[in-house]
Amino acid sequence: KNIVILISGGGSNMAAIVRTAQQEHWEQRLGARVAAVVSNKADAKGLAFAREHGIATAVLDHRQFPTREAFDAELATTIDSHQPDLVVLAGFMRILTPGFVARYAGRLINIHPSLLPAFTGLHTHQRAIDAGCKFAGVTVHQVTAELDVGPILDQAVVPVLPNDTADTLAARVLTQEHVIYPRAVARMLQK
Ligand code: GRF
Repeated sequence: KNIVILISGGGSNMAAIVRTAQQEHWEQRLGARVAAVVSNKADAKGLAFAREHGIATAVLDHRQFPTREAFDAELATTIDSHQPDLVVLAGFMRILTPGFVARYAGRLINIHPSLLPAFTGLHTHQRAIDAGCKFAGVTVHQVTAELDVGPILDQAVVPVLPNDTADTLAARVLTQEHVIYPRAVARMLQK
């Protein structure tokens, strides 16, 4: 089975999945491997990590496409060249068209740094602090046409501490992201 991971930046979730996949010998246990990492940004730091770990990479700059549909069509062509069983959004900061989402229905997952359905969209950590939340967290969910909505696969909870800033809370949440995302990927592939 082939996993294709989409990133836009640091790629720490992608790296957590790659490390788990390589260290725990997923390839034998699940018959799955990370086949490719695709970024919409050429300077995404995660690309170097992927290359160093022997994974095929591709860059598709969304600014070079006239429409969202045109970008998504080329993105799908790139992804499909790796015959994906699972497409994993890991800090991929582009909204996907309904056509793209439908093409990968049931095999497209995302990680969102809030306890969904609370705080869809951006700036989740600051919004949780501003709301006075005592707990925050992260959600892995199936992707449907609507942003940050879709069947929840897994969540992890962290406390919001009195002196938290968006950055300190984000860091606490991120450590949990790295725990639950590889696990959710494995579960999807076990089905
Ligand atoms: C993570 O917090 C993820 O939940 C959000 O964007 C961030 C990406 O981090 N969607 P990384 O690129 O995986 O390090």
